[in-house]
Amino acid sequence: MTYETVLLERKGRVALLTLHRPEALNALDLRVMTEVVAAAEELDRDPEVGCIVLTGSAKAFAAGADIKEMRPRSYMDMYLSDWFTTWDRLGQVRTPTLAAVSGYALGGGCELAMMCDILLAADTARFGQPEIKLGVIPGIGGSQRLTRAVGKAKAMELCLTGRTMDAVEAERAGLVSRIVPADELLSEALAVAETVAGMSKPVAMMAKEAVNRAFETTLAEGVRFERRLFHAAFATADQEEGMSAFVDKRPPRFTHR
Ligand code: CAA
Repeated sequence: MTYETVLLERKGRVALLTLHRPEALNALDLRVMTEVVAAAEELDRDPEVGCIVLTGSAKAFAAGADIKEMRPRSYMDMYLSDWFTTWDRLGQVRTPTLAAVSGYALGGGCELAMMCDILLAADTARFGQPEIKLGVIPGIGGSQRLTRAVGKAKAMELCLTGRTMDAVEAERAGLVSRIVPADELLSEALAVAETVAGMSKPVAMMAKEAVNRAFETTLAEGVRFERRLFHAAFATADQEEGMSAFVDKRPPRFTHR
């Protein structure tokens, strides 16, 4: 499919999705939401895609949900259309995802980045949930995912004051895995994605599922879930290949089966 507000490029087993609504700093309106989710689901169905990178522009990953689109809406509009619920489908994508964030990642932009599995930040990145300044609260999971990522103290301060964090603070708080110089962000993101995409896809999917389970369940249940998936990895051809390659002192040739 072709999309207007998101550019889709394929680089081997890596797919790159670039938010492209420059006139509004990639503000997330209905069309962006529909297209990003459709593109991610299209890529998720493709067995040749091993990792999906989501990025924005140098100035803005995304400056939030589209305020102008939301402004005239009533409670009934929001409730009956179940506004933003479509975004949840991005979190259900099974292929590993990586957000490469440069510039503003505010409100829905921060929430979108947090829905991805790996979060790399340029040194120019700024994160925050400033919805309170607009008379609303986060609506795409920010109050939940930010709290799980950085803890109550910082999440509460950011959600109650609307203060934004720079990349250094975000890394220290555990929101991002690494900071990269802005001009190297994309190449580094693609390199990380290529590494992930070079692993066995079904096993990478299991690893993602296991880590995500930590957010949903008790430690005992999570460990049990992990153990069962670990056992399941032994049903893959890639387990045999990976372990044989180690013993034979050669790189593995995964077939993603
Ligand atoms: N929605 C709609 N349009 C937006 C937007 C948004 N979230 N963010 C920026 N824009 C538009 C601006 O209106 C402006 O358009 P015009 O030229 O037509 O006026 C254009 O993008 C450029 O923006 P600025 O001129 O404001 O650029 P700046 O460099 O001066 O400031 C900024 C950048 C600090 C990010 C500022 O644009 C800003 O504060 N944006 C809003 C951030 C925000 O509040 N985000 C949360 C939105 S609510 C939400 O996300 C709810 C949720 O939980 C999902």
